[in-house]
Parts: sequence; structure tokens; C-alpha cells
Amino acid sequence: MSAPEQIDHEDGNKDENLGLYRRATQTGAQWWRVSVGDRPETYRLEHGADDENGAGTVDIDLIVDAENLRAKLKKWRREGFAIDGSDAGQDDERTRVAFMPELQRASASMLAQKQRERASSNDTVRDGSSSTVRIGTVDVPCGIPHPLVPPINHAYLFSPRFNDIVEDIVENRRVMLIGHTGAGKTSLIEQVAARSGHPVLRSNMNGQTTAGDFVGFWTVKGGETLWVDGVLPSAMREGLWLIVDEIDFAEPSILAALTAVLEPHGRLLLKEKGNEIVAPHPAFRLFATANAVGAMSQFRHLYQGANLMNEAFLDRWRVYLLDYLTPAEETDVLVRTLAPHMTRALAATLAAIAADCRAAFAREDLASAFSTRRLLDWAELMLRTGDPERAAGPAIYAKVSPEDAALIRGIIRHHIAPAG
Ligand SMILES: Nc1ncnc2c1ncn2[C@@H]1O[C@H](COP(=O)(O)OP(=O)(O)O)[C@@H](O)[C@H]1O
Ligand SMILES: [Mg+2]
Repeated sequence: MSAPEQIDHEDGNKDENLGLYRRATQTGAQWWRVSVGDRPETYRLEHGADDENGAGTVDIDLIVDAENLRAKLKKWRREGFAIDGSDAGQDDERTRVAFMPELQRASASMLAQKQRERASSNDTVRDGSSSTVRIGTVDVPCGIPHPLVPPINHAYLFSPRFNDIVEDIVENRRVMLIGHTGAGKTSLIEQVAARSGHPVLRSNMNGQTTAGDFVGFWTVKGGETLWVDGVLPSAMREGLWLIVDEIDFAEPSILAALTAVLEPHGRLLLKEKGNEIVAPHPAFRLFATANAVGAMSQFRHLYQGANLMNEAFLDRWRVYLLDYLTPAEETDVLVRTLAPHMTRALAATLAAIAADCRAAFAREDLASAFSTRRLLDWAELMLRTGDPERAAGPAIYAKVSPEDAALIRGIIRHHIAPAG
């Protein structure tokens, strides 16, 4: 009983080399198996290949001595063979292949549960206030009439890319939209609110917003000292949707106040007001927009003064990168906004000009961004004047530097030949 153990121990160093050496190929894997030979100090080497189905056949089978084995091991390492003790490699592969089907089942089960939950919550409140409106593929619960509900923009286009964002809003996630100026961050939230009838407050961090405006402050009125809620506690108490625009410009004290509220059902502590606790109304939603955060950091030089946001803060949000509409989508928006006069052919050219200007902005050839708003305004004035160049004056050129105006003029001429 003790003898074989001793032999194993003595041979330990050599036995380390026993096992399966594999290297992946395009269609499966190649392997060498090293086992103990039938004579002392010899090793058996088998070579084979597995295809995608895992079926392997041995095509080489030989006996070598220890020195020969060492040479082989060196060669295999150069060729990319690596030892995978036991059948761990096959287990890894099985797990890899099994992941997606299993995830699809898990995801379907979660969706079904959500649908049941929503159906039952609609059943319990049968007073009409629980109606929903469908936006893209998502049923969004409706709010109540309020003066702060934004007007519906009928030309607004809900891209299928937005479905996940709308779903997050329904689930009461904190959503941050990042992207270039004029890409449509603010209007996406506003148009979801407009369609579903939710009041919206906007607070822009790039400018005069102080912690007092945001959180609240004490004031004296008629000899009495009064607390005035800032936008954050107001929105939380009244169940408004709050958009913190350009959050990458916010003061640290504002970010500190926000952090607590970012937790699901997170409460706000009004330290200045004797530690009063503000609990969020169920309809309260919190959004942020930013130009140069996270995946947009590469464009920080275009947005002077923007602060980096740390990952711990970003991890409290779902952060979506919003790109400009595609030329096809923007053509659609132009046609719908300026119907019935704007034709598809005219719109397609204008959308292509906007795309070229944005590419120039991303390359830093242009200092000014080209928003969908600017494009729509230019197109409208162009229809009125019948003259793209004259319309570009007040809609574009007067808003940018002379160098930018010259470059944009060049892009426009590239797409539009002068009238004959
Ligand atoms: N999906 C869209 N459909 C129609 N118009 C859009 C869309 N996205 C943006 N726009 C237009 O572009 C303008 C600028 O968008 P905005 O939301 O203000 O951009 P951002 O907040 O990213 O700077 C909006 O006022 C709207 O007219
Ligand atoms: Mg905005």
C-alpha cells in the first residue's frame, strides 16, 4: 500500500508532464495526449483532432523516452499547445455553448413575470388612472394632467434603439443619457413624458444652478423665516420627472445630494432643514444628461469645463450613449416636421449635409456641433426663402465662427449645385 505511493512521489516531476495538450483550430481542436509508456522511463504520445462535434480520432500513437518527450513539449509550446489537465477544456466549451440558450430561457421567464406583475397591478386599480400608452414596444403608465407636462412633438421619431431606455423609465431606473449636444438627449425624455402625460422639471448644471436652487434654502418673508424647496425635493415630493441637464458641470455639493437619491427608493436628507427626510413619490423619476462622460470622455476637449465623473457615481446610473439620428431617420423627421412641402429627396440631401458637418465636428475641423434642431430650423427657413444660402445665414452662419461658416458653406456647396 505504501510502496506505490512512494513511487508516485518520486516520479512526481515527470508526471507533471502527463496529460492532454490542446490547441484550438478553426474547426475544433488538436491535441497530444501524454501517458506513461508500457516500459520504464517511456511515454506514450497520441495525437488527434476534434471537430465542432467533439468527435476525435487518434492519428499518431508512439512511444518515446524522457529526453524525446522534453523536446516535444518545447515544440508544442511553440506551436500553441497548452496543457489542460483532465477534461476541463471540454467542460469550458460545454459551458460556453450552453450560456446563450440558458440565458434566453431565463430572460423569457423574467419577462413573463414582469408581464404578470403589470397585469395584476392594472387589475387592482380599475379607476382609469392606471391606463398605459405604448411607446415603441413598451407600455408606459400614464400620469395625470399637469401644467408641466411637455407638449407632444408629433414629428418626434422613437427609434427602436430607445426601447431599453423607455423600459428603464417604467422600471424606475436612474437613466443618464450621454452624447453630443443636439443629439436628442433632453427631447427623448421630454417626449416620453409628453406621450405618457408626466410633468417634467429641468435643471441645467452648466451655469447658475447653485446647491441652494437644487436642494433648497431658507429665506425671510414678511418677518417669517421660510424654507423653500429646491428642484430636487420638489420633484421628489410631487412626483415630477427631473432632468439634471449637463450633470458633468454640477457642483460637488449637488452631486453629493443626488447620490443618496440614486438608490432605488433613495431618500433625500435635508441637512439644512433640521435633517428632514424627503421620500420619493412613486411617480418621481430622475434623469441626467452629459456630453463628455464615460464613453464620451474622448470628446472632453470639445466641452470646456466638463468634469470627469467617477465610476462609482456612474455605476448608480444606467448610462446610454445617444448618437445623432441616422441620415435615414433624420430624413424622416424632416419630412414629417415640414409636411407636406418638404420632399424626401430634399430632406435626404439636407440630412447628408448634417451628417458631414457632424463628421467634421468629430474630427475637430468644425468647432460647432450640428444639432437636429439647427437642421430643422435651416430647412424651414429654406422652404420660406427658396434659398439655402440665405437661410443658412440666421440658422447657421451667424451662430458660428467665420472659419466654421466657411467650412459649412463648402460642405453645402458640395451637396447642392447653384440654380442654373
Ligand atoms: N428622435 C427625434 N425625432 C425628432 N426630432 C428630434 C429627435 N431627436 C432630436 N430631435 C430634435 O433635435 C432637437 C435637439 O435635441 P435635444 O434633445 O435638445 O438635444 P440634446 O439634449 O442632446 O442637446 C430637439 O429639439 C428636436 O427638435
Ligand atoms: Mg439637452
